[in-house]
Amino acid sequence: MTRIELTVNGDKRSDEVEPRLLLVHYLRETCGLRAANVGCDTTSCGACTVLLDGRSVKSCTVLAVQAAGQDVVTSEGLSADGELHPVQAAFRLNHGLQCGFCTPGMVMAAVGLLAENPHPTEEEVRAGLEGNLCRCTGYHNIIRAVLAAADTQAEVQA
Ligand code: FES
Ligand code: FES
Repeated sequence: MTRIELTVNGDKRSDEVEPRLLLVHYLRETCGLRAANVGCDTTSCGACTVLLDGRSVKSCTVLAVQAAGQDVVTSEGLSADGELHPVQAAFRLNHGLQCGFCTPGMVMAAVGLLAENPHPTEEEVRAGLEGNLCRCTGYHNIIRAVLAAADTQAEVQA
């Protein structure tokens, strides 16, 4: 076992983990956070997406020990003071919220995308979310939601 110290959704944690433990299993089983889902075993669905030091990653492809010393944010950690994160609000307003399996990962991928590229084109949004799958192919409103979130952020910063 290896001790790791990290921050999860703003809380400092110190836990003993097996070196082979995946970050997604650490988040779900050790931290009790269930938003990051395991939707495949091929690193293709994105249901497990979280932020690691501000960058979106598929937590099924990261070992918990690799997150040591870093800041992990899951979908549960996005809202603050009872207010939805602007990306969450945009998903709600634009009907981008779909099932509980794909949506948390979509939202986290969108937050990571807008952190890297605050003013994406539609094509850039499509490319940025290509690692996240909705098995129902309900992508249209998700793309609209991400573009709306980018507009909202631009207005807030203006
Ligand atoms: S569970 Fe991580 S990509 Fe599917
Ligand atoms: S709505 Fe979640 S996989 Fe399609």
